[in-house]
Amino acid sequence: MANAFGFLTPTIMRISSSNPSAYCCYHDVISKRINCSLTSQGPETSSPSQSPVPRLVTKGCKLVGCGSAVPHLQISNDDLAKIVDTSDEWISARTGIRNRRILAGNESLTGLAVEAAQKALEMADVKPDDVDLILMCSSTAEDLFGGAPQVQKALGCKGNPLAYDIKAACSGFLLGLISASCYIRGGGYKNVLVIGADAISRYIDWTDRGSCILFGDAAGAVLLQACDSEEDGLFAFDLHSDGDGNRHLNAVIKEKETNHEPGTNGSVLGFPPNRSSFTSIKMNGIEVFRFAVSVVPQTIEASLAKAGLNSSDIDWLLLHQANQRIIDGIATKLEVPKDRVISNVANYGNTSAASIPLALDEAVRSGKVKQGQTIAAAGFGAGLTWGSAILRWG
Ligand code: ACO
Repeated sequence: MANAFGFLTPTIMRISSSNPSAYCCYHDVISKRINCSLTSQGPETSSPSQSPVPRLVTKGCKLVGCGSAVPHLQISNDDLAKIVDTSDEWISARTGIRNRRILAGNESLTGLAVEAAQKALEMADVKPDDVDLILMCSSTAEDLFGGAPQVQKALGCKGNPLAYDIKAACSGFLLGLISASCYIRGGGYKNVLVIGADAISRYIDWTDRGSCILFGDAAGAVLLQACDSEEDGLFAFDLHSDGDGNRHLNAVIKEKETNHEPGTNGSVLGFPPNRSSFTSIKMNGIEVFRFAVSVVPQTIEASLAKAGLNSSDIDWLLLHQANQRIIDGIATKLEVPKDRVISNVANYGNTSAASIPLALDEAVRSGKVKQGQTIAAAGFGAGLTWGSAILRWG
């Protein structure tokens, strides 16, 4: 199992043993983090948007724009009941999901990603030419080699900013957000587009009622911008992966199409290989459910502790939208009341890497999430991967 702990900065200060301070609580994690020079301390008073723990940042980063896009085709639970043995009653009781959107016709995942990114740029009042990095968090890009450069092209970013993909299923967006913050803090980047976009519908077995009811397609994006350390809006993070849990949720390369039979495919043993493709998503629902409800509260508690906050200090809990029962279970463990939990899983199902920015965008545009409010966000899913971040909107 791999872990990553941290404040959202590569800037680490080594504390002298003769001068222990609030930083001492970081000693056990300091060796796992990048060493740079330090700089400034943050506010010392506690409020939902201000961590009481001194902040180790030379440069801040903040969320200044968001956007999202979904396909036009809406598929209801009743629609699914026509193709598999299920019902609206079963699906809504077990998952909270009522509808999902599915890519169809001429729609493309790249198109959704571009639309979401354009909306985020518009809200941030940032021109495509001023973007200096695009991170496309997706496990289902329309090019084997990644979709980010196509998004860069479609956005018309004249400076040809670096654009590449991050593939980590439902944790992808959170990992992209934290990667973006590291580029800003350590690399001098100013405007980073982080896009979460997935078309899981293309990898579903539509005869498997245990999984086909859960997923939908969508894209969401945020613009993370460099700012002064005093304005910093990413307080802490905590990331993990566990390859052993991969057996519970995966879509692997089809074995039959990988030819290892001696001499069957040419004069050289097993060469040339056959063309590859992936199986549909295979999932042990109960195990994934248990995993999520067990590890997500832990990772959020860890991030909150690093930020010097309690769950009562946060304004919003924003979880990967997998299943309403998972969201409720995690909120209950963290003692976060229902009216502080963001959820739109009923309308879109599990949209993988898109789910967090899609839910954030709806909450911001509806006026629910307001400037300066603190959000505890967490992603979890295939890999297995999971993690959390404490951030401020605006
Ligand atoms: N309609 C009707 N009955 C169903 C359906 C369905 N769609 N699916 C399963 N059932 C049946 C099963 O066959 C079983 O019947 P049986 O008792 O006769 O054997 C019964 O319902 C109970 O099945 P369970 O799998 O135990 O149902 P459970 O309450 O666990 O709910 C679910 C299943 C919804 C999949 C749940 O386990 C879950 O949400 N797990 C988390 C999945 C998840 O979030 N995955 C995405 C992770 S993110 C990523 O990275 C992709």
